[in-house]
Amino acid sequence: MVEDDEQQGINDQIIIKFSHVVAENTPKGLAAQRFARLVEEYTEHRVKVEVYPNQSLYSDGEEIKALQRNEVQLIAPATSKITELSHKWQLLDLPFIFPNAAALKEALTGEVGVELLKALEEQQIKGLSFWSNNFKQITSNSPIRHPSDLSGKSFRIMSSKVLEEQFEHFGATTSITGFNDTFKNLEKNRQDSQENTITNINSKKLYQVQKYMTISDHGYLGYAVMVNKPFWDDLPGDIQTDIQKAMDETSNWLWLKSEEMNKQQMQEIKAKSNIKIYTLSESEKREWMEEMTVVYEQFEPSIGKDLMDRMQKIRQ
Ligand code: LMR
Repeated sequence: MVEDDEQQGINDQIIIKFSHVVAENTPKGLAAQRFARLVEEYTEHRVKVEVYPNQSLYSDGEEIKALQRNEVQLIAPATSKITELSHKWQLLDLPFIFPNAAALKEALTGEVGVELLKALEEQQIKGLSFWSNNFKQITSNSPIRHPSDLSGKSFRIMSSKVLEEQFEHFGATTSITGFNDTFKNLEKNRQDSQENTITNINSKKLYQVQKYMTISDHGYLGYAVMVNKPFWDDLPGDIQTDIQKAMDETSNWLWLKSEEMNKQQMQEIKAKSNIKIYTLSESEKREWMEEMTVVYEQFEPSIGKDLMDRMQKIRQ
């Protein structure tokens, strides 16, 4: 009888497949594992989250469609990759949109974040939270200090019109390629530059195939954790509550953890590689910001003035 009850429990267990593209020792990789543990604990094993890192199930070009088909129930793509679903999300790709980590947190945990997650519902997707991976830096095979240095470079970018314009406006070319093809493409000189966080540059060893890194903090890299909406709507209310609690705890933990990991892995890169690192001075940064406002003007109509104005208030 006890055995039957146990068997019954296992048969009833709800499985959530969680697919992502990065390594396990990254902010997203660690958050996914932590979230899985918390969900099992809070639901007393009624829900099991199976985490598939390093695109072992789906590449970043495929995972949104796999979610909409309910082949996986949970994904956490970089927000840039969501701009195809809703143009409002282009807001988060605007260069220098977040002056610091506090503004980032205020926007994403406040009304701006709520509006962005809500915009996903038309696409059969429920957005549960934002996970942060801090700010992006630029790597290249020749030094980049001023926006004019972007001219002639070929950048690997994520799929986003804003990122395309951010580089093409200054005379660079861009190509959209999958995250896990980046190392190979740089190694084979198909592209000569890219932008990413320190933890992604470190975990994928991009410092081995790039000669220079500019610490610019010019763009935000974070994730939206998204669940298939019909799957979510079918879950019992108490399970939804437990999952959301596990999610909120993980997101809170990650705000600090991602900052700490990016700092610590910067030291690791310095210790083990020969990449030449240049940090933009405050006045150089101001030059970048001023020159790049041209991108804001171009994308305001598709992002929407209301959202831009709300973001502007946070920036002041
Ligand atoms: C990238 O494609 O550069 C990143 O979005 C990968 C990730 O998910 O952090």
